[in-house]
Amino acid sequence: MTQLAGRTAVITGAGSGIGQGLAEEAAARGLRVVLADVDADRVEQVAEGLRAQGAEALAVPTDVTDPDAVEQLAEAATDAYGPVALLVNNAGVETVGRIWELPPERWRRLLDVNVNGVFHGLRSFVPRMGASPEPSYVVNVASVGALATAPLNSAYHASKHAVLALTECAYLECLEQHPQVSVSVVCPGAVRTRIFEDAYVADGSPGSDTWQNTMKGYLEQGGITPREAAAAILDGLGTGFWINTHPDELAIFAGRRAEMLSGQTPPPPPAM
Ligand SMILES: NC(=O)c1ccc[n+]([C@@H]2O[C@H](COP(=O)([O-])OP(=O)(O)OC[C@H]3O[C@@H](n4cnc5c(N)ncnc54)[C@H](O)[C@@H]3O)[C@@H](O)[C@H]2O)c1
Repeated sequence: MTQLAGRTAVITGAGSGIGQGLAEEAAARGLRVVLADVDADRVEQVAEGLRAQGAEALAVPTDVTDPDAVEQLAEAATDAYGPVALLVNNAGVETVGRIWELPPERWRRLLDVNVNGVFHGLRSFVPRMGASPEPSYVVNVASVGALATAPLNSAYHASKHAVLALTECAYLECLEQHPQVSVSVVCPGAVRTRIFEDAYVADGSPGSDTWQNTMKGYLEQGGITPREAAAAILDGLGTGFWINTHPDELAIFAGRRAEMLSGQTPPPPPAM
């Protein structure tokens, strides 16, 4: 990994799953970590665990859908530990159900967390990171779902396509304005987390419960651990726009998408 020991990482969604794995892995590599999550108890517990092991860890309960809260997170991180070297916009949620069966507030909430949360992170942190001459890193967590689509999962797929596009734009804008800030996307495949346990499942959406259970089983059986995902993400810093946790899966999804776009064929059925 690019030498970051002694510098500061901010991770959103750090109370669970990949975010918790990132917090643990970054702390193990000598970074000071600022952990943000909407679940104040969970994120404080993660921070406490890290402090008990001698790490410098600060929990800042934050709802990434709130631009003021994310601004306060940036201030709190800088006040506590100085310039931020790594921001991971990781917080994300899942929703299951057909498009016309999703209540509008659930659709909006998912896009608010998964897309606006990333926008708020870029908005509050990039100018601060760009004001420092030191190299720094922004990683946005999308998904292989950014390159694919599936029934019963429209809000999530739409949000992750948006995260990929937003990250591409941020990469280009930083190249132009803040070349010392490297922007990357990570498109994980299955990681063993609680994301489908916490997923909103639409009422009266036939097959949604089954699909949720299939996905839970798929992550549990076929997923890498959050810590493995975190290690791959930190190893990938400074290597370019794409950071890989699941290179083989990503190549399959990218190939299918390229075929669909160049052949102007309809969306293929889900790969799994
Ligand atoms: N698990 C997978 O297989 C997988 C695959 C591809 C991408 N991802 C992405 O990885 C990221 C992390 O997901 P995970 O699987 O670790 O899920 P997770 O449910 O284990 O963790 C997500 C965390 O985000 C927090 N969160 C939710 N809403 C928030 C908000 N408004 N503000 C701040 N924090 C909020 C939750 O409290 C939780 O602690 C997400 O963006 C997800 O889409 C996960």
